[in-house]
Amino acid sequence: MSSRHEATGQPTSRSASPIYSRIAGTGSYLPPKRWSNEDLVAWLADRGVQTSHEWIVERTGIEARHFADPDVTASELGLQAAIRAIEAANCSAADIDLIICATSTPDMVFPSTACLVQKKLGVHGCPAFDVQAVCSGFVYAMTVADAMIRAGSVKRALVIGSEVFSRILDFKDRTTCVLFGDGAGAVVLQASDEPGIVASRLHADGQYADILCTPGTVKGGEILGDPTLKMDGQAVFKLAVNVLDQVAHEVLDEAGRTPDSIDWLVPHQANIRIMQGTARKLRLPNSRVVTTVDQHGNTSAASIPLALDHAVRSGLIQRGQSLLLEGVGGGFTWGAVLVDY
Ligand code: ACO
Repeated sequence: MSSRHEATGQPTSRSASPIYSRIAGTGSYLPPKRWSNEDLVAWLADRGVQTSHEWIVERTGIEARHFADPDVTASELGLQAAIRAIEAANCSAADIDLIICATSTPDMVFPSTACLVQKKLGVHGCPAFDVQAVCSGFVYAMTVADAMIRAGSVKRALVIGSEVFSRILDFKDRTTCVLFGDGAGAVVLQASDEPGIVASRLHADGQYADILCTPGTVKGGEILGDPTLKMDGQAVFKLAVNVLDQVAHEVLDEAGRTPDSIDWLVPHQANIRIMQGTARKLRLPNSRVVTTVDQHGNTSAASIPLALDHAVRSGLIQRGQSLLLEGVGGGFTWGAVLVDY
């Protein structure tokens, strides 16, 4: 048995377990419609909302994002990413024995988006469920899948992050609607004798629920409350940089490693200033930070697997390298996964 962290109950050591999980393949998918800042600025101006390419780039690093067509759902984007990850892992959908989808923009209240992806993949019987941890959702989902693989109940897990955040944006609120985009990413995690996932750690603190939320819900067939995203940007900024630094050190300490051992930081793509602030605290050069926020915007739970897949397919990330995946988001939630790729 591996030992357990007193406060979180999470494993603090992997050394006693003979089973690990490794990333066997990655995939991603962006809806085809790309909106440059100029496109969005002009569209918003027609609706009386003033912003500029210069403001968006300077404060966020975002130059473009993709928006899904109105009839395209998170399960559809997730399916496309999953197909690519399964192909990259050299297996078939029938070989998958767990599906976890991280999303805050599910197709429907239930069934889960993971079950809908399972149906679209044409497979039957394996467990499938969603994880809702907003922008930390992918590291949460990876950690759960890793735990199930290490427990021996699962051999091959499909872990998806998929979002259609455009559905919950208030396009009259210029402080939030310029930040987000739609997309999906996925990995196939496979049981292995060697790590793989070396260490992971998750956290949440519900006292910060109000600084980043979409407070609406459904009641009696009507929407109750505001179903669009609300954010206190400066509060999120300060908290994000601090907790990302803390959790990075927690997983590095657990693995007995130092920040300079990280080949690639693959952070949640919220905002270039948060990403570079995190790298600075870890004394990592920006050249070791996988950056896609400029072209994708913030795709919440999809941003880490999207960035990971782009870096793998472009040849930046190579087998044998050490990756630190870090997420932070509404809840407030945060977490990190240290991976030997
Ligand atoms: N275009 C032009 N002007 C704008 C825009 C815009 N899109 N949005 C806000 N402004 C204006 C404001 O009206 C304000 O004007 P004023 O000074 O005349 O009143 C000015 O810019 C500054 O507004 P702030 O809200 O204080 O802007 P700030 O410098 O804090 O930047 C931002 C906002 C980019 C959201 C910043 O707070 C931030 O980076 N926060 C981090 C949060 C984040 O990235 N969230 C992503 C989602 S959360 C997650 O993924 C973890």
